[in-house]
Amino acid sequence: MNNLIFKEPIAYEKIPTRIFSDPKEASISVAREIAELIRSKAKEGKNCILGLATGSSPKTVYAELIRMHREEGLSFKNVISFNLDEYYPMEQDAIQSYWRFMREQLFDHVDIPKENYFIPYGNIPQNQIEEFCRNYEAKIEKLGGLDFQLLGIGGNGHIGFNEPGSLINSKTRLMMLDHSTRAAAVADFGELAKVPKKAITMGVSKILQAKRVVLLAWGERKAGMIADAVEGSVTEQNPSSYLQTHPNVLFVVDESAASDLKRIKTPWLVEDVVWDNKMTKKAVCGLSLDLKKPILKLTNKDYNDNGLSDLLARHGQAYEINIEVFNQLQHSITGWPGGKPNADDTNRPERAMPEKKRVIIFSPHPDDDIISMGGTFQRLVDQGHEVHVAYQTSGNIAVSDDEALRFIDFVVDFNDQFGIKNDDTTRIFAEAKDFLKNKKDSELDTEQVRYVKGLIRKGEAKNTCRFVGIPVENAHFLNMPFYETGQVQKKPLSQQDIDVTKKLIEDIKPHQIYAAGDLADPHGTHKVCLDAIMDAVIELKHKNFMKDCWVWLYRGAWAEWEIHEIEMAVPMSPDQVIQKRLGIFKHQSQKDGVVFQGTDAREFWQRAEERNQATAGLYNKLGLAEYEAMEAFVRWNY
Ligand code: F6R
Repeated sequence: MNNLIFKEPIAYEKIPTRIFSDPKEASISVAREIAELIRSKAKEGKNCILGLATGSSPKTVYAELIRMHREEGLSFKNVISFNLDEYYPMEQDAIQSYWRFMREQLFDHVDIPKENYFIPYGNIPQNQIEEFCRNYEAKIEKLGGLDFQLLGIGGNGHIGFNEPGSLINSKTRLMMLDHSTRAAAVADFGELAKVPKKAITMGVSKILQAKRVVLLAWGERKAGMIADAVEGSVTEQNPSSYLQTHPNVLFVVDESAASDLKRIKTPWLVEDVVWDNKMTKKAVCGLSLDLKKPILKLTNKDYNDNGLSDLLARHGQAYEINIEVFNQLQHSITGWPGGKPNADDTNRPERAMPEKKRVIIFSPHPDDDIISMGGTFQRLVDQGHEVHVAYQTSGNIAVSDDEALRFIDFVVDFNDQFGIKNDDTTRIFAEAKDFLKNKKDSELDTEQVRYVKGLIRKGEAKNTCRFVGIPVENAHFLNMPFYETGQVQKKPLSQQDIDVTKKLIEDIKPHQIYAAGDLADPHGTHKVCLDAIMDAVIELKHKNFMKDCWVWLYRGAWAEWEIHEIEMAVPMSPDQVIQKRLGIFKHQSQKDGVVFQGTDAREFWQRAEERNQATAGLYNKLGLAEYEAMEAFVRWNY
């Protein structure tokens, strides 16, 4: 992984787009542009009129602006800002309000005068909204319009809360939120029913009138809409595509959000490429799947007709390329994820030696181990390796109040039955029960309730470990501090988080580490957990035992590695799939509807099975043997 900006805007794309390999680097570059604008306006004795966004995308930009304010004297005294939107109805001090977000993420940490920032009011009576919106726009116009508009993008292409169907000349107004927008906000509100149905949003026309517009997008959830906006036609079905009509716009995206752009997906159709192994594999797998032809049946004509004549010319014959890629794919398949003892391992993904390996499976939440690599976990145990699981966070916010009450009731009744009275435990549980019965929507759980919820998940994880067959002392609960805020919004990764990770690695001295390589959501728990492991591994890299330590990345419940990326695929038989399903069932608090369901109504075991079956299906379509299901891994060469 490097942090280089690797591509500048490409001529045929309709919106200038810069791809960064690291969202942090990208955010810093945007923060710099904003800071330069603020400073140059200040030099001219003018105000700088900013249009600002909320959501996860701009957080690091704001953090960098705060840093510049603290360390480089960047002043916000001449800044006047207008936020894009606010939920309706919404009180200003509610946990989910954009007022609160902006104060916490930026305004309270810089010297912007209180009277200089404007955010739509989510708490005005409905009959005043129209007038409020007119005044909001008039205020911007009176100041000479927005100098700079920062945007995020919804998974459905919305900008601000201008949902699909919004017109290019739409004004600031009250808007009904799309189901997908509300589902994406469930994480902040706890459940769909609590997500507001409406929002006040700045209209598309005001956004387009800004002198400069920069849109940020991180993660593959945004990839489809980014590609449509940048390469497709202007359509109200994707409001971000309206930005094609803006004379001074820039999209700043990370590699995942860029992954559907032609220059990433099929770069050989756009420019000359270096045909290394990875690029060849990507092109050949793509060709085979597009033409619905197994790799070994691809012909010279198939290559020539599909923009791959260059690749063909290098090899001479389709057969040569086909066999090379076919072999690579075949060599990635193994039923021996810990290496096959006494076998030639030249063409196997893992080393044969040492025969018995020490393994740590890092699981960001208490169920990711079994959901994402339950089949491999079981094989490693069955094949005699010393397997440890490190549960990185408590996962407590994903347990419902009902579930916690049920367990508290259990303890209280148990204590009653056996006369365990006046005991601290009884008091604590009674208080927790009381709290949950009277809990308000906007209230965070008490430390005790959080503990109960964490304990429930811990019990489930231990149950899975027993089921798979590892001793309970091999289950390590790291309770990483960054997670323990009681809300979706987490603390940044700290050295403390890295240190607990390092300590475990040093204690066990593993030959294999498995980690959740989720890059889909750069602000999500999985990514922070991965960062902790990567930082720990880098800090330990010089130690002798690390020379023998290989790191394998699996993906979480949401996505799978692309077929050409997979370096180890572990097949499962139908029985092994059922065994894995039973292991997932041990997580009862996460069954039959979970706290953060999102847009995907399937249960975790269903998502896992469908994903593993899809991977096996792809291998089969490429012309390899037909397995029931497969788990997939990519090696991180640190
Ligand atoms: C926020 C806003 C929205 C978000 C978009 C992306 O003020 O107007 O358009 O920018 O929903 O949200 P995140 O950044 O959370 O993915």
